[in-house]
Amino acid sequence: MPRIIDLTAPGRRTTTGSTPAQAGVGLHPFNDESLASAGRRRGLTFTPEIAAATAHHYDRIRAVVPPVEWPAMAPFIHAIEALKRERDAVVLAHNYMTPDIFTCISDIRGDSLQLAREAARTPARTIVQAGVRFMAETSKMLNMDKTVLLPELHAGCSLAASISARDVGLIKDAYPGIPIVAYVNTCAEVKSLSDVCCTSSNAVQVCEWAAKEWGTDTVILLPDEFLARNVATMTKLNIISWHGRCEVHETFSTSDIAEIRKSYPGALILAHPECPQEVVSAADYAGSTSALASFVEERNPKQVVLLTECSMSDNIAIANPTVDFIRPCNLCRHMKAITLASIYDALVDMRHAITLCEDVARRGRAAIERMLDLPQHGARRDFAVGQPGASVRVI
Ligand code: 13P
Ligand code: SF4
Repeated sequence: MPRIIDLTAPGRRTTTGSTPAQAGVGLHPFNDESLASAGRRRGLTFTPEIAAATAHHYDRIRAVVPPVEWPAMAPFIHAIEALKRERDAVVLAHNYMTPDIFTCISDIRGDSLQLAREAARTPARTIVQAGVRFMAETSKMLNMDKTVLLPELHAGCSLAASISARDVGLIKDAYPGIPIVAYVNTCAEVKSLSDVCCTSSNAVQVCEWAAKEWGTDTVILLPDEFLARNVATMTKLNIISWHGRCEVHETFSTSDIAEIRKSYPGALILAHPECPQEVVSAADYAGSTSALASFVEERNPKQVVLLTECSMSDNIAIANPTVDFIRPCNLCRHMKAITLASIYDALVDMRHAITLCEDVARRGRAAIERMLDLPQHGARRDFAVGQPGASVRVI
């Protein structure tokens, strides 16, 4: 897992330009073919007509994508726009997508909760999930009559991989009468055995709702140990969790925060709740990916550090040109497996369509819909910072 936290290294701190890895171009970190060569192999070339037809897209991302990279992106973007019309397709892009995907070709953008809500509403016949497998499965469960494409089959998630349906079955037997809240970062089979889903936007609200519904003071929140610990600081409930971790967020530490505070006094430090509890506690603000974006938009701080996946800074920087982003870079190799080339191939060949067994989909959908049915105004957008850790039983 590539990780760059040396904020003082020459060239690390950029306010407008991005590194090739952040922009997702040049030699892609997890695909060894450059986008330019991928385009040539597919007969996609940068012509004056394509330059003119895509100029408005480049204007929106020029702050984070150097001009030298645009000729490789533009032919893909132009071709994907035509394919979307042909296939009656929408692209749902998670906040961790690179700016070429996030800003130029996506129709719907956001965090896991927003993408699930919009997946349930879209009238399009085809959904291209620019995100990871659990997101595509969520979209499919909500749209069994539609085609849901995941451009790269290997786009997984360390949290989803940490727990199986068999594990959940054993947990249910061991804790009868205790509701199981499944983080949306789980596979369809795990969701189908769970009582309700949650995301980082509504985890506290869902746990409290489940405890009330089941008439208990204990909730099993799976599979992210750190999310569970961060939820536990905000509720009186007893939380039982699992030993899953996000491979991107688990690597942030309080010494990273100390280093940032020393090098950049005054910079606001924002953390995702998949980070360890002591990291969230030492940050200035914590919330889902969209909560982090809204915080920057509302506060318009001078300098910001996001303790989350790299591409978030690029995407938020586009919307907030006056904010100076310091960029410790942790890439999610699963998210970065989705590229313009893989999206193009997915639409050309209608690959890789998600299929789910009817019964799994029906029960998983019930868990997702319970979450979507909760009142949105009751959800807290943020996590508590500056709190001591609360006890969580990790099984
Ligand atoms: P959000 O729901 O906050 O977008 O998080 C999804 C995710 O995978 C973070 O690592
Ligand atoms: Fe999974 Fe972490 Fe990647 Fe999100 S960032 S998809 S939680 S591995």
